[in-house]
Amino acid sequence: MFENPFLVSHQEIKWKNKKPFSKVFNDRYFQDSALEEIENVFIEPNSLREKFKSQKFTLVGELGFGLGISFLYTLKVFKEHNKKSLNYLDFVSVEKFLPTVKQIRKAASLFPELEEISQIFLKHYHPIHNGIIKIHLAEFNAALTIINADIQDAFKLIQHNFGKFDAWFLDGFDPKQNPEMWTSKVIENINKCSKNNATFGTYTSSGLLKKSLNENQIGYQKVSGFKKRHKLVGSLNSKDDISNTPLPRKIAVIGSGIAAAGVVHAFTKLRISCDVFEKNSHLHSGASGNHAAAMYPKFQFNNSAMNRFLVQSYFFAYQQMLQFSESFYPSKARFFGMNERTAKWIERVGANDSFPLFKEVAQNSASIQGGVLAQTDFLKGAYLEPRKLTERIFKNSPSKIHFNHDLISIKHNSNLATLSFANGKSYEYDAVILAIGSGLQQWIEGLQVSKGHIIGIPKKYVRKISQPIHHQGYILPPLNDYIWMGSTYEHEYRDLEISSKQIYKILNAQKMFLKSDEIPDEEILVRASERVSRSNKFPIAAKISQNHCLYAVGALGSRGFSSSFLCGEVVANQIRGGFIPVDDEVLENLEV
Ligand SMILES: Cc1cc2nc3c(=O)[nH]c(=O)nc-3n(C[C@H](O)[C@H](O)[C@H](O)COP(=O)(O)OP(=O)(O)OC[C@H]3O[C@@H](n4cnc5c(N)ncnc54)[C@H](O)[C@@H]3O)c2cc1C
Ligand SMILES: C[S@@+](CC[C@H](N)C(=O)[O-])C[C@H]1O[C@@H](n2cnc3c(N)ncnc32)[C@H](O)[C@@H]1O
Repeated sequence: MFENPFLVSHQEIKWKNKKPFSKVFNDRYFQDSALEEIENVFIEPNSLREKFKSQKFTLVGELGFGLGISFLYTLKVFKEHNKKSLNYLDFVSVEKFLPTVKQIRKAASLFPELEEISQIFLKHYHPIHNGIIKIHLAEFNAALTIINADIQDAFKLIQHNFGKFDAWFLDGFDPKQNPEMWTSKVIENINKCSKNNATFGTYTSSGLLKKSLNENQIGYQKVSGFKKRHKLVGSLNSKDDISNTPLPRKIAVIGSGIAAAGVVHAFTKLRISCDVFEKNSHLHSGASGNHAAAMYPKFQFNNSAMNRFLVQSYFFAYQQMLQFSESFYPSKARFFGMNERTAKWIERVGANDSFPLFKEVAQNSASIQGGVLAQTDFLKGAYLEPRKLTERIFKNSPSKIHFNHDLISIKHNSNLATLSFANGKSYEYDAVILAIGSGLQQWIEGLQVSKGHIIGIPKKYVRKISQPIHHQGYILPPLNDYIWMGSTYEHEYRDLEISSKQIYKILNAQKMFLKSDEIPDEEILVRASERVSRSNKFPIAAKISQNHCLYAVGALGSRGFSSSFLCGEVVANQIRGGFIPVDDEVLENLEV
């Protein structure tokens, strides 16, 4: 396992006659006629053309992402067979060494057929962290998940995904150079991961692989493969098959904040629509209705489940939000160390080679008054307009929002949930997701709710802010001529009335950025709302009633915009029986 999520090992390649050759495994990545071989060894034995045409979802697994050529070619075949974009490809690949963008570009350039696809893919591919990386490819109705881990660890991370795969590409290097990719344990795990009768293809018919298949009682045929080589193909006999999980016909999402939007967005990608119910007559009534928000990339130095979640969810959200460019603004983000603890953190990220996205900032470059002990810029920071973002997510989806629907009870009979609303209406659903912010307290014990203020000041009263600054709270670049700053934490409060004391608390924390001590109260915009968290500090993304199809997403704390997208992805895939892109320990922590 890695020491922290940012330690990324890349492929080590020698280019011999323009062809890639692994320095580590002393073998070539693919044959000269690689695409024909992929067709012959992986696409055809797995009947992928038929599956792509007839199945709504296909989950393909690969051992050895390498330089992504098999993936890119599969994507091309999928695109050709999914003309109406009704079906969905989930491609999951295990790889110890992440290729760089440059390495993929150079390898893909050997195949003119892949040029267009690889260009689109590379726009989305940023190998920033290790662990599980999911990249959604809206252009193809497909997603790639790389499990960046050694094969010995990879399956231990994803046991909750056993029984789901339709097809496998077994593509390690030559078994003589790379025996650990072909062991009996690996084959046992592939079998467990798969649906019953899932298929596999491999270019080798080595004794080691045959022994591993025999030890797991997996039938195979040795057939002539590409260029007179022999290949093994066969079908698996998993007992963990969950393919009979029915896809819910009707899904309800309760709430319309960022937690609900994260779920709806995950379903939209799968071409599944939901009914959304909001108790108020409009969007933006809860904490997600703030006018501005920051992405908060304060990561830790360890490889704890929490840090893996923070890093993975941050970059997943980042990739998802890039498509909503009119509400999401990538920029650097600056951290000021105003106390010993943060200054120490800044010094550590600056001095640590495994945090290349943090760049130390010379002290004198700050145009502020004293008190700053250390500073650093994070190169992939961002800020956003939550109102616009949630509006766009709902607008982009086939889901419909029903306002003035305050959920008051849920009754279960057999597999159906009957939802009753305060307006007297009731409806039946196969799956229900509660994304109701502080309303979750009614359903889940042990949640902590705090009140927070955020304020907007006309920019004429504030020094120039060109990137989000994090120190005691945050201060953001201007949006519609206002500079937003926040936020406060009150654990004991009666209602959501605006409090002058809290406004002055924020102004005081940000005073080094103010041009004037006298800002007229009536020119300050203020909003107070509730944030929800729980003692393990993880959000909730889980089934909350074992016998019924009732799920919750929430407790997003003060980083709701970073975590909601991955939480939505987790729950949507739990409901549809798809690949859940987080590791077992993270998943356990997201449960209630
Ligand atoms: C002051 C402040 C500043 C913040 N700043 C940031 C930031 O900069 N960056 C960041 O990432 N996070 C920030 N957060 C946290 C973030 O705003 C929250 O984590 C997030 O908005 C929570 O989203 P949610 O969808 O769970 O809840 P909400 O946004 O509260 O949405 C819940 C929705 O459910 C509806 N609802 C409730 N009960 C029912 C019912 N019974 N029936 C139907 N509908 C119902 C509500 O009306 C509401 O629309 C901040 C929070 C606060 C308080
Ligand atoms: C033949 S290459 C795969 C080629 C790839 N499918 C492509 O299209 O470019 C084999 C891959 O297996 C990876 N690999 C080898 N041993 C591994 C291990 N122990 N754990 C995870 N990946 C491993 C290598 O890093 C290499 O990228």
